[in-house]
Amino acid sequence: MGNAQVPVIAIDGPSASGKGTVASRVAAALGFHYLESGALYRLVALAGGEAPERVAAGMDVEFFNQDILLNKHYVTDKLRSEAIGNRASEIAKLPAVRAALLERQRGFRRRPGLVADGRDMGTVVFPDAVLKVFLTASVATRAQRRHKQLNDKGNHATLAALSSALEERDKRDAARAVAPLKPAVDAVSVDSSELAIDEVVDLVLKMYRERMSR
Ligand code: DC
Repeated sequence: MGNAQVPVIAIDGPSASGKGTVASRVAAALGFHYLESGALYRLVALAGGEAPERVAAGMDVEFFNQDILLNKHYVTDKLRSEAIGNRASEIAKLPAVRAALLERQRGFRRRPGLVADGRDMGTVVFPDAVLKVFLTASVATRAQRRHKQLNDKGNHATLAALSSALEERDKRDAARAVAPLKPAVDAVSVDSSELAIDEVVDLVLKMYRERMSR
């Protein structure tokens, strides 16, 4: 079976929409592989250097259980900071960086299936995904979720500061010329503001099973 036959579920959306949690739980429920594409952009940001497209092409990345290794070093916690998220969003505007990461992302498509989350999974990286979900939530909800996440880790950013940083990052991700944040024409939009994570996971699984039984 060529890898084009391996089913992909694409989950795109703005930052802190819950797509990472939803995507990894859906992957676990189905026994599928999971690609967190944002981590790749974050890794390029973390690695630094003069030529990000060369870093993107050459970096040695391993996803090991819940951990991420860059050039054999554990970087999982460092990757999660807001500063790295913002730098990743800047670097993600560069077409050469996106091109350098394209095949690396497609390499995650292996049997029995893949759940991939990001901004352009359904539009650019896996346009033939069997199910495309565009997961949104209000800015207030997303800022609160991120606030809680950061506070649990002892990082005390204010809600107001987080909410304006989120809006700024989304604006930049949606305005860029290449692979902007936007729903694929055939994506199902889900607003998770009023839903618990489990409800979103169940909804995605239900939609996937419906697609596969057609
Ligand atoms: O999903 P995230 O917040 O970890 O992503 C960090 C940044 O990386 C995001 O602001 C924009 C960029 N990104 C992207 O351009 N395309 C993707 N598929 C995933 C992330």
